[in-house]
Amino acid sequence: MTALRVVLAGLGVRGKHWADVLTRSPRCEIVAYADPNPSAVKRIAGLFGERPAFASAEEALAATPDAQALVLANPPIGRESQIRAAVERGIPMLIEKPLALSVAEAAQLVKIAENVGVPLMVGLNFRYLTVTQETMDLLASDAVGKPEFARFTYERYRDGNRPDLNKYPLTMDQPMLWEQSIHHFDLMRYVYQQEPVLVQAQTWNPSWSMYESDANVAALFTFDGGMIVNYQGTWQSGWAEPRFEWRTDCSNGIISQRDQFGELHYAHRNESTLTRVDLPPHETWVTETQALLEAFVDTVIDGAPLQCSGRDHLMSLAMVEACALSSRESRAVTINSLLG
Ligand SMILES: NC(=O)c1ccc[n+]([C@@H]2O[C@H](COP(=O)([O-])OP(=O)(O)OC[C@H]3O[C@@H](n4cnc5c(N)ncnc54)[C@H](O)[C@@H]3O)[C@@H](O)[C@H]2O)c1
Repeated sequence: MTALRVVLAGLGVRGKHWADVLTRSPRCEIVAYADPNPSAVKRIAGLFGERPAFASAEEALAATPDAQALVLANPPIGRESQIRAAVERGIPMLIEKPLALSVAEAAQLVKIAENVGVPLMVGLNFRYLTVTQETMDLLASDAVGKPEFARFTYERYRDGNRPDLNKYPLTMDQPMLWEQSIHHFDLMRYVYQQEPVLVQAQTWNPSWSMYESDANVAALFTFDGGMIVNYQGTWQSGWAEPRFEWRTDCSNGIISQRDQFGELHYAHRNESTLTRVDLPPHETWVTETQALLEAFVDTVIDGAPLQCSGRDHLMSLAMVEACALSSRESRAVTINSLLG
C-alpha cells in the first residue's frame, strides 16, 4: 500500500494534532510542512520528524510535485490563495473549520473547488466521536422514541492567553460562534438529520471577558423536521470547571450526553435512573481526528463519497451568521436568507 503524500500547512495547536494523526496513519505520510512562523516549524519537526519546510502552503505545493493532498490548519482568514494553489494542481483538501468567517466567502471558496471537481472536506471531527455515532444509533433504533426538543449547554472558562491555545480568537468578531459553536451547530444538523429553519439569538460579553467580542451565545433554533433546540454556550463561564450537557427529549424518554467527548446516557420516561451507554476507549483529539482522516483518505484514494463537504458546511456557517445577525438586529432570522 502506498501512502497518501500530504502537505501539512498550519503548525499551531490544531496542526500539532494533525501532525500526530498523520504520522500515526499507515495510509498517509507528511511530505512537507508549511507555516510562516519558524518556531512553529521547529516545534513540529522536533516532535514528528524533519520534512522540507516552507513559509506558505502555496510554496510548499509548488515545491512538492508529488504531493497528493493538503491538510490546511491555518487560521480561517484569507484561505483563497491556498485553496486556489491546491485546486490548480487538482489536490484534494482537508481544511479546518470554520472554512471562512462569512457565508459569502465560504461559498466562494466552495465554488472554486467545485468548479473543477476537487474534493474540499471540512475538519468536523466531532461528527466522528463514538458518542455522536451512538447517539445517532439510539435515535435510529427508536429506543426512546422520536426526538422533539433539546437543550445544548456548553460552559467553559477558556483562558485565551494560555500558551497552548491559539491567540486570534482574542481579537476576532464573535469568537465563540465562529470557533466553537460552529461544531455544536454542525452536530445538531448531523445528529438529528434535520436542517435549521429559524433562529432567535442573543450574544454578549461578560464584564470579565478577556475576549474583545462576544464570548456568550444563547440561541433558540427551529429545524425543518420540527426539532427545537435551546442552545447556550460560553467561553467565559464564571467557573473554571467545564460543563457540557446535550439533552434530547423524545416521545418516550431522553438521551443525555454529559461530556463533549463521551458520557452518554438515556432513560425511558418513567425510569428514575439513567442507563449508561458503554463507549470504547477514546484518546481525546486523536481518535476522532483519525476517523475524520480515514474518511478523507477513503475519498481521495478509494473514491468514496465526500463527507463533511464544503457545500454542506455552508448551512452550519449560516447558523453562525444568523445568530450574530439575530442578536445585532434583535429579531428572528431565517437561516436560508443567508444562503443567497
Ligand atoms: N477541529 C477542531 O477540533 C479544532 C481545534 C482547534 C483549532 N481548530 C481550527 O484549526 C485552525 C487553526 O487553529 P489553531 O488553534 O491551530 O491556531 P494557531 O494560531 O494555534 O495555529 C495556526 C498556525 O497557522 C500558521 N499560519 C498562519 N498563516 C498561515 C498560512 N498562510 N499558511 C500556513 N500556516 C499559516 C500560524 O503561524 C500558526 O502556527 C482554525 O481554523 C481553528 O478553528 C480546529
